[in-house]
Parts: sequence; structure tokens; C-alpha cells
Amino acid sequence: MSSPRQQHWENVYSTRQADEVSWFQDDPTLSLDLIARSGISANAPIIDIGGGASVLIDRLLDAGHSALTVLDISHVGLTVAQKRLGDHAGRVTWIAQDVTAWHPPQDAFALWHDRAVFHFLVEAADRAAYVRALDRGLRPGGFVILAPFSLTGPERCSGLLVRRYSAAMLQAELGADYALVNQQPQTHLTPAGNRQDFIWCLFRKSAT
Ligand SMILES: C[S@@+](CC[C@H](N)C(=O)[O-])C[C@H]1O[C@@H](n2cnc3c(N)ncnc32)[C@H](O)[C@@H]1O
Repeated sequence: MSSPRQQHWENVYSTRQADEVSWFQDDPTLSLDLIARSGISANAPIIDIGGGASVLIDRLLDAGHSALTVLDISHVGLTVAQKRLGDHAGRVTWIAQDVTAWHPPQDAFALWHDRAVFHFLVEAADRAAYVRALDRGLRPGGFVILAPFSLTGPERCSGLLVRRYSAAMLQAELGADYALVNQQPQTHLTPAGNRQDFIWCLFRKSAT
């Protein structure tokens, strides 16, 4: 039985073209910059949480990354990305799962990427479950990129209420095991021409 949350996202990806949703970007520059800034190697395992139909995975494959996973609550969203990638989809691990109910393999990932997913977790229990999954799945010394709406961003995304963040608020969610390496604001222009303010943060998990 699918949850209302899953139904929402299956409906979005079943009724909207991937390049017309508000979060669409054909050039995930900041993600690629921050991943490069982490200094991880091309064979280090990366997971894109709530990657959906994002083209980040295409760009990472193009850049030579070889250990890529995309997790998303929406089967349909993942299928859009898989069809676009064609034969290359087999080079990626795909997980259809709600991140708040996910029990990842311990220390499986060197980098955890999340653009516009964490901000949907308006319930504290969901955020705690997310951070538990992160803590388990991200290896010591690993990196996490979180990019939610900033304090000047919209109050809703895809019709759902969001929680908006500063870097300090994200730091408080992650806790003392994570050190802020870099933060930058970004204004995303939606396909409809609206401006959405994001905050991009790169954290490093302590090595012990
Ligand atoms: C606003 S979209 C962002 C998609 C992608 N990260 C990007 O930047 O293009 C949010 C994505 O998160 C997924 N999502 C929402 N809640 C989720 C959850 N609890 N667990 C996993 N994925 C989730 C949605 O299906 C959707 O693909």
C-alpha cells in the first residue's frame, strides 16, 4: 500500500514533464561544484537522495563517477531517469523508497546529496528518521550536501508545505558530528520564471 506521500510524487511524475516541474534544472552546477569541492574520487560511492528525474546522475556519469545510487519515493520519477539514460541506466543503482523508512547499508556512501528533499520533512520525527539513515549510510569522513529552500525561499514546493533553513538550522538538525565546510545561497529560476531561494551546504562527517 502506498502512502499519501508516495501517491503525491507518483502523481506529479505521472502528470508533469520532467522539464516543466518547478525544480527542473538542466545544469546542476552547484551540485557538481560542491561534489568536486569534497575532493572524493571518481569511484567513491555517491547517493542522490530524492533524485527523481534529475539530470545530476547523467552529469556524474559523464564526469566518470562509477558508483552511483539514486533513491526516490517515486517509481515513476526513477523510471523517467532510467528511460532517459537508456543502456547507461544499468550503471546506476536505483532504490524506490521513502528515505525516512530506509535502513541503508552501514557506511555505504562517501557522499550524500539532497536537493529540495529534506525541506519537505516538516515533522520532527521524519527529520530524525532521515538523520538516522544519513548517520548509518554515510561513512566516517564522508560528505553531505543539503540544498533546501532558504529562509527567503517559498513556503511551499510542489504544493506541499516545506520547512525553510539557514546553514545554522541545518547544522542543528545534523548535530555535532557534522562540520560545515561550505555554504552558499542560490536563486533558482523555475521553468515558469519564478525565483526560489535555496541555501546550499556542504558538511563533513567526523572521521571517528
Ligand atoms: C522537489 S523534487 C527534487 C528532485 C531532485 N532532487 C532535483 O533536484 O531535481 C523532490 C524529490 O524528492 C522525492 N521525495 C520526496 N519525499 C521523499 C522521501 N520521503 N523519500 C524519498 N524521496 C522523496 C520526490 O519524489 C522528488 O523526486
